[in-house]
Amino acid sequence: MAQFKLPAKSVVKKGKIVNTLEGENVKKFMIYRWNPDNDDNPRLDSYEVDLDDCGEMVLDALIKIKDEIDPSLTFRRSCREGICGSCAMNIDGTNTLACTKYIKDIKDIVKIYPLPHMEVVKDLVPDLTYFYAQYASIKPWLETQTQPPPDREMLQSKEDRELLNGLSECILCACCSTSCPSYWWNSDRYLGPAILLQAHRWIMDSRDENSGERLDNLEDPFRLYRCHTILNCTKTCPKGLNPAKAISEIKQMLVQRR
Ligand code: SF4
Ligand code: F3S
Ligand code: FES
Repeated sequence: MAQFKLPAKSVVKKGKIVNTLEGENVKKFMIYRWNPDNDDNPRLDSYEVDLDDCGEMVLDALIKIKDEIDPSLTFRRSCREGICGSCAMNIDGTNTLACTKYIKDIKDIVKIYPLPHMEVVKDLVPDLTYFYAQYASIKPWLETQTQPPPDREMLQSKEDRELLNGLSECILCACCSTSCPSYWWNSDRYLGPAILLQAHRWIMDSRDENSGERLDNLEDPFRLYRCHTILNCTKTCPKGLNPAKAISEIKQMLVQRR
């Protein structure tokens, strides 16, 4: 399981007002802070950012706060264009990517928390150790018994490739899994929507020769069937994917093969 724990009392309190600004286009950000190196409870610190001097996205504001106001603020980011999944966090009440979320779409104070129901490493950084272990458990690679041709790659028809559309675009940001109540309460045994969408992606790959065993591994009251079609996953996915549909298609396959 994950290495870091929230403090025993994890009540989030109002924290510092770190800076104040004047101006017509000043936006207030309230950001979750927690540091494992002291015994303080989590708190919300307030920052003000002049949007006339900042990029359009929430990630631009976070970078500006870290660069110019408070270097201790900790968050993950890499690609800055919705590809790597590392800037996933809860913004304005919804799990999403900070780099693709426009500040102008948030009417009031911008409230930012880490992805919900995950242990926190520090500030906005969730511990995804167990999430990645669950990903590894579905064997996210091609499994074949047939030897590939010696002189070329294993080809796939256009039609077979199209079966992966809506699945292969997943960036494993974990926004969906951490919005799913079933995953909140059973994440030790339920794989959750992100991992199940990925499992579906490998089952659907025409080049894979292990779909029977893949389905065997999912046929379990917890690993798959803890999905109760709550649909938060599909609603929140910042890439517009439909994990709930992928899960339902796995369930249909299990029924059909009986
Ligand atoms: Fe993120 Fe969407 Fe993949 Fe879930 S399905 S991990 S929300 S990209
Ligand atoms: Fe959860 Fe999505 Fe199923 S929110 S219960 S994984 S439909
Ligand atoms: Fe890569 Fe946001 S920084 S998805």
